[in-house]
Amino acid sequence: MASNEKVPFLDLVTPHVELEPELLAVCQKVFRTAGFIGGPMVEEFEREFAKYCDTICCVGLANGTDAVRFALMAAGVQPGDTVVTVSHTFIATTEAISQAGAHIQFVDIDERTYCMDPLKLQEYLEKKCHRDPATGKLLDNKTKSPVTAVVPVHLYGQVADMDAILELANRFKLLVVEDACQAHGAEYFSKKENRWRKAGSIGQVGAFSFYPGKNLGACGEAGAATTNDEEIARKMRMIRDHGQAKKYYHDIEGYNGRLDALQAGFLTVKLRHLADWTRGRQEAAKRYQHLFGKAEGVVTPLQPDISRHVYHLYVVRVLDRTGLQKHLADAKIDTGIHYPVPLHQQKAYAHLGYKAGDLPVTEKIAPQIVSLPMFPHLQGEQQARVVDKVLEFVGQPVLSRTT
Ligand SMILES: Cc1ncc(COP(=O)(O)O)c(C=O)c1O
Repeated sequence: MASNEKVPFLDLVTPHVELEPELLAVCQKVFRTAGFIGGPMVEEFEREFAKYCDTICCVGLANGTDAVRFALMAAGVQPGDTVVTVSHTFIATTEAISQAGAHIQFVDIDERTYCMDPLKLQEYLEKKCHRDPATGKLLDNKTKSPVTAVVPVHLYGQVADMDAILELANRFKLLVVEDACQAHGAEYFSKKENRWRKAGSIGQVGAFSFYPGKNLGACGEAGAATTNDEEIARKMRMIRDHGQAKKYYHDIEGYNGRLDALQAGFLTVKLRHLADWTRGRQEAAKRYQHLFGKAEGVVTPLQPDISRHVYHLYVVRVLDRTGLQKHLADAKIDTGIHYPVPLHQQKAYAHLGYKAGDLPVTEKIAPQIVSLPMFPHLQGEQQARVVDKVLEFVGQPVLSRTT
């Protein structure tokens, strides 16, 4: 490639051009049946995605935020409860908690994986909560609110340390809703069970987003929740459809959170390509790793033995993130930041009363992270240019041309 050609952060056009005939056939089918909402195309996708995630049920939804919110509600989180999650995530995770009527409690992340640190969860549960002798409920010491659920976020495509999180959840009787919105097909090796487990099949419910830029993306908004619990699935189906199981008979007040047939059809087509696309991402990550080698001044993603990362994002850390982004932008290389301001320091959550220093790892990494170009069709030469420019900036010998 020419040395001044732009390296995009993400290429959403190429896969759609490649799949255009199949995607147009979906449109034709929907137009000819006028089955726009629900129906066989949604059910087919739900069956296929459940199979892909190794779960019994999948409930198609309007987006990933609804998936986290409906999952919490259907699993049994009540208004006034406390739900524990991380601050280093997209705000949808915590919007879903608040909108389910619950309080948000943040714990810090593991500096190596950027996912929830089980030791910090343990510390919160053991030191900042107590059991109410009258009801047996676990209460937050300060707010006296019952702590009922934990939402680990499989950030960037890497599954959180679920053995440790599940052990704590069992010990403290917490529901577990996995925010797998960035982790389609990611896997975790459970030492306890001596087997690989898919993201979204480990807790009571898994929540997925199919926002277009996700590893499995719709051509618009879409989401889903996966579970092995038929009763939770039944409740989520009701919640997504105005609280009705039978038309116009409303057992509860619900929402309009359904997946439409067109998106389900597109997703069924794309799901057949997801394994190849994931392989493309994993190979690109391996190439980045090889090109960076042992360069100092840049921290590359950790790939622990217990995890098969699907690289929704390829995030590195440097001390001067702003400088690096400018250096790369000058070389026509696009980058992103996921996410610049931790949630506990956002204006929207000022009322929660967190102070600087409360979540030291989250606060340390937030100004250092930068997401490099990552998508299945990313070319080796594009990556070599990215790495050359990063190494040039951090003052390391440029390795890529000699490896
Ligand atoms: C970690 C995480 N949780 C939740 C969501 C919400 O998904 P959606 O945008 O489909 O509502 C996203 C999507 O960006 C996400 O990245």
